[in-house]
Amino acid sequence: MTAPTAGLPTIAHARTRRIRDAYVALADDFRDWTPSATFRETFDRTVLSEIRTRLRTTDSLHVLEVGCGDATWAVEIFRAIPEADRRVAYTGFDVTETRIEHGRSRLAGHPRAELLIADGDTFTPPKPVDLVIAVEVFCHLTDRQATRWIGRWHDWLTPGGAFIVIDKDRWTRHAWRLRWDRFKQRCLPRSLRGRPYYFPEHFNGLAAHMCYPSFRHLRRAARSAGFAPRPLVHHGLFRALLADRSRGA
Ligand SMILES: C[S@@+](CC[C@H](N)C(=O)[O-])C[C@H]1O[C@@H](n2cnc3c(N)ncnc32)[C@H](O)[C@@H]1O
Repeated sequence: MTAPTAGLPTIAHARTRRIRDAYVALADDFRDWTPSATFRETFDRTVLSEIRTRLRTTDSLHVLEVGCGDATWAVEIFRAIPEADRRVAYTGFDVTETRIEHGRSRLAGHPRAELLIADGDTFTPPKPVDLVIAVEVFCHLTDRQATRWIGRWHDWLTPGGAFIVIDKDRWTRHAWRLRWDRFKQRCLPRSLRGRPYYFPEHFNGLAAHMCYPSFRHLRRAARSAGFAPRPLVHHGLFRALLADRSRGA
């Protein structure tokens, strides 16, 4: 594994700092988190499938994961694709240092994997990559941030490269329930709140900064940035947007 970037990242927005602090406070809760079967299948049908397809026509591939957390999906790539250790260079970054530290320990046996502490608003990869992925990170971004990130990714990618965003959609029952939980938490006394649908009370600091993205908005942003979005993937609660950068310069 390459040497880590020293120190903490420059964080562009106070909101991101609060999100980072919330994840630091919840480090133990997330340490043992494992994705559901549907989540894994969504990752398999999109990210793993895209890597496998590309490896048929190229010797090696550079994957960049934005907001990689504890490197759960990097572990999955190296587990599911046996030749990945030789043919896939993986860089993951995340603004939460405790997650990166844990991720580094999980990826210790993979020489072509590196994890960095960085903010998606300010990070720029030193050279273009073939695939940018972001799994459940856009749920922490404003629409304006999401548009800007997708625009910046165009410059991060090699011609013919692609990005994949996996998340839940803003206009689903799941997202409405999350909003309802947040409303109760903010506006009702504890005695009237009842049980939350999703997160236990000690997650409130994090849930306050969650708003699932609108995939309609993400598709529009991708088009405006010069990407060609593919048909949206729906699987259970999850959506995935794959978009290609043209092969021209
Ligand atoms: C729900 S977690 C998902 C982590 C990982 N992608 C996974 O699926 O296991 C969201 C992650 O996004 C990271 N994050 C949020 N805002 C970020 C930003 N501006 N720059 C980098 N990472 C960010 C958080 O620190 C957190 O680890």
